[in-house]
Amino acid sequence: MSDALNYLLKARPETMGHYFAFLKDSGKYLDPKTRNLISVITKVHAQTDRGFRQYLGRALREGCSPMEVLDALLMAFPALGLAKIIWAVDIILDMNIPGFAPEALTQPAAAPTPMAALVAPAPAEWRDVMAARDVPDGEVTRTESQGRGLFIYRDAKTYKVYDSHCPHQNTDITQLAVKGTTMTCPKHQWQFDAKSGDCIKKGKTPLRRIESKVVKGRLLAFW
Ligand code: FES
Repeated sequence: MSDALNYLLKARPETMGHYFAFLKDSGKYLDPKTRNLISVITKVHAQTDRGFRQYLGRALREGCSPMEVLDALLMAFPALGLAKIIWAVDIILDMNIPGFAPEALTQPAAAPTPMAALVAPAPAEWRDVMAARDVPDGEVTRTESQGRGLFIYRDAKTYKVYDSHCPHQNTDITQLAVKGTTMTCPKHQWQFDAKSGDCIKKGKTPLRRIESKVVKGRLLAFW
């Protein structure tokens, strides 16, 4: 749950209680798989990275297959549009879920893959990135945390963390691509501004921003 919801729950427990009761009650006549798929689609519609990862993981754990997830995304095309579907698929690819690998999806259906093998994503959580004071102010830092490439831009006490993979075709952008506060993807030269994450040349899709916070002097990121 987000910090904002936690806050509202504490500040206005009765009011928010109605909201949570509504959420609990809605969908009670749907089977769990349908409920999970609808939850996934709502997260794509709202484009909440963290929520989408959580709901997708839960849908897979509770029995949805990757093909069913893709079906749900594609069926929701009239509401989502292609850009949001691509946004969701980019995150799915980033999560490296074996069941979504093209080879796994095209295997004959005769040999069903055990669900445990399909559900590989580690649950999203706060992960340690580095000491906050070691991030140079006003500069772009490229680092790795738990196997994931990250760009960090710091402006005094504000830290912005981005996935190092290009939103165009997932190329991992290296430190060599950084000039000042600009990163240029080596593959098709899309250019990104580290201050906003926006794509400022060639493409339109911004870098994937990752939620972050500083706790006891450590920069943490959530994925
Ligand atoms: S993959 Fe980065 S610009 Fe095409």
